[in-house]
Amino acid sequence: MLSKTIEQALNQQIEYEGYASNYYLAAASWADARNLEGAARFLYRHAEEERGHMMRLFTYINDSGGHALVPAFRQPPNEFESLLSLFESLLQHELEVTARINRMVTLCLQEQDYSTHHFLQWYVAEQHEEEKLFRSIIDKIKLLECEGPRGLYWVDRELGSMKVD
Ligand code: FEO
Repeated sequence: MLSKTIEQALNQQIEYEGYASNYYLAAASWADARNLEGAARFLYRHAEEERGHMMRLFTYINDSGGHALVPAFRQPPNEFESLLSLFESLLQHELEVTARINRMVTLCLQEQDYSTHHFLQWYVAEQHEEEKLFRSIIDKIKLLECEGPRGLYWVDRELGSMKVD
């Protein structure tokens, strides 16, 4: 059974994962509108992945005697200066998600809620993977930046062929 404090924290995370899904969707649309097809494919798939993160929380809360709530979502940024700044802003966003997950893990220990602590370990591992992935994409873009449009073409191709879990 979830305490009210933990239920509230998990419901707040629903809002943040849903916002993340919309953030990736906005980024995908920005890339799509510029015919960056590989980047758009990668980002649309990532938007779906973030929705999956949100749905995991819905299931867990309702299976644990709580009530998962659908929140209002904030509007994400729709404009980016470049593909590099788009991925830098996504990495910043992921770092914020990691900080939120870590705060929830600490809260679970304080509340002695070991079930939710166990549930959140999946998110801890996922955040580690996502931060690593976005750092590597940023490094690749910087590496190929000096190639101009040709570099952008290769980055776009690479993004389009990347596997999303
Ligand atoms: Fe659900 Fe990218 O964090």
